[in-house]
Amino acid sequence: MQEINLPSTSTMLSKDFLFGVATSSFQIEGDRKGRVDCIWDTFCEKEGAISDATNGDVACNHVELWKRDVELIDALGVDAYRLSISWPRVMKEDGSVNEVGLRFYVNLVDDLVKRGMKVFVTLYHWDLPQYLEDNGGWLNRDTAYAFEKYAEVIANALGESVYAYATLNEPFCSAYLGYEAGIHAPGKTGIANGRKAAHHLLLAHGLALQVLKKHCPNSQNGIVLNFSNCHTPSNAPDDLQAAKLADEYHNQWYLKPIIEGKYPDVIEKLSADDRPDIIEGDMEIIAQPIDYLGINYYTRTVYQSDGKSWFEVVPPATSELTAMGWEITPDAFTELLVDLHQRYTLPPIYITENGAAMDDELVDGEVKDDSRTAYYHTHLNAVNNAIEQGVDIRGYFAWSLMDNFEWALGYSKRFGIVYVDYDTQKRTLKQSALAYSELVKSRINRYISGTE
Ligand code: FCB
Repeated sequence: MQEINLPSTSTMLSKDFLFGVATSSFQIEGDRKGRVDCIWDTFCEKEGAISDATNGDVACNHVELWKRDVELIDALGVDAYRLSISWPRVMKEDGSVNEVGLRFYVNLVDDLVKRGMKVFVTLYHWDLPQYLEDNGGWLNRDTAYAFEKYAEVIANALGESVYAYATLNEPFCSAYLGYEAGIHAPGKTGIANGRKAAHHLLLAHGLALQVLKKHCPNSQNGIVLNFSNCHTPSNAPDDLQAAKLADEYHNQWYLKPIIEGKYPDVIEKLSADDRPDIIEGDMEIIAQPIDYLGINYYTRTVYQSDGKSWFEVVPPATSELTAMGWEITPDAFTELLVDLHQRYTLPPIYITENGAAMDDELVDGEVKDDSRTAYYHTHLNAVNNAIEQGVDIRGYFAWSLMDNFEWALGYSKRFGIVYVDYDTQKRTLKQSALAYSELVKSRINRYISGTE
């Protein structure tokens, strides 16, 4: 069986480094009747929007099976669990709280805490209540203030039992994929929409962060951003310029305002109509100091100049691809982490997502997913290399605990270290889960034997 090993001198094997698994609400919960609709319910009903024409009505039926799922997480031996809260399960359209929905999260967090687990809660992992979308969603500035109110409800209910709060997960995906490219909910398009949505999301982040800091000063309060290196096929100046613009447009657009209070220079290239409306004081709200930065990483992207647009994506040529068609690029992961560390003054980092979809097969009760285990091995070592180069990384979360609804690709892509049979809802540990668990548990022996 493929193993996951780190050098015995790695600080990732010390007590202070957290190993965890991650999920998100819409992708696993099901129980649609227990909440109001969100933009993904609506999007799933759109013909052709989801590749296998599925939806999140049942998903992994986690709302019903959560106790078993928590036992499963605990049995893996991990230190931390990253989950997200479904805004539409907590806030009703009239602004009142859905007490049953809220109780679900209070119980879940309680159980995790009782087991000694550190809980990482994301307030928004893309499931915007549909009633807000009906008023413009993230194109409407009021949505940021609605988010602030919702954050206050959660901060009061869960308080400092939560080890770390993240306001948003990957605002790039919400803004760009959802409002600019139109391939995610709510399926809107256009540069102006994408940039406007991004600004309101960042504003929502800043507003919610203030609430979290006030009510939960002892929790770690931050945000989760995704990054993909912007590489080029050649060193031609046009290609390098294309990659620089792509990096500013897709990556730095979200980080720079938070750390430095300004958008990257590429904003100057946008026409006046495409620029977001930035009201006085917005950038100060957005640039509140964060306690940590969550980084999600899967792969690099190659860009070139096509002579017409700012940048063009070059499809991966190598055979080393995951089932998503994404290149397997662990060295680029180290490069990215070191680069961000050098460019910015960053708070401590958690790797809040990393993992791979592979073509899994359940045979005789086993999933021999060596390629996924190898992915974890190389990417965990990539994190270790970044730490050795001075990057302050405090933890790592495997995406995902279990197979789930992979957005526009439905249930066709499996990212879990635990296999889910969607007909029976049976969970089976894949070999990658066993390898991850073994790595995590091997630390205990070090503590006991005194090597740590
Ligand atoms: C990230 C999302 C997560 C999952 C992984 C594969 O962009 O945050 O929900 O879909 O990709």
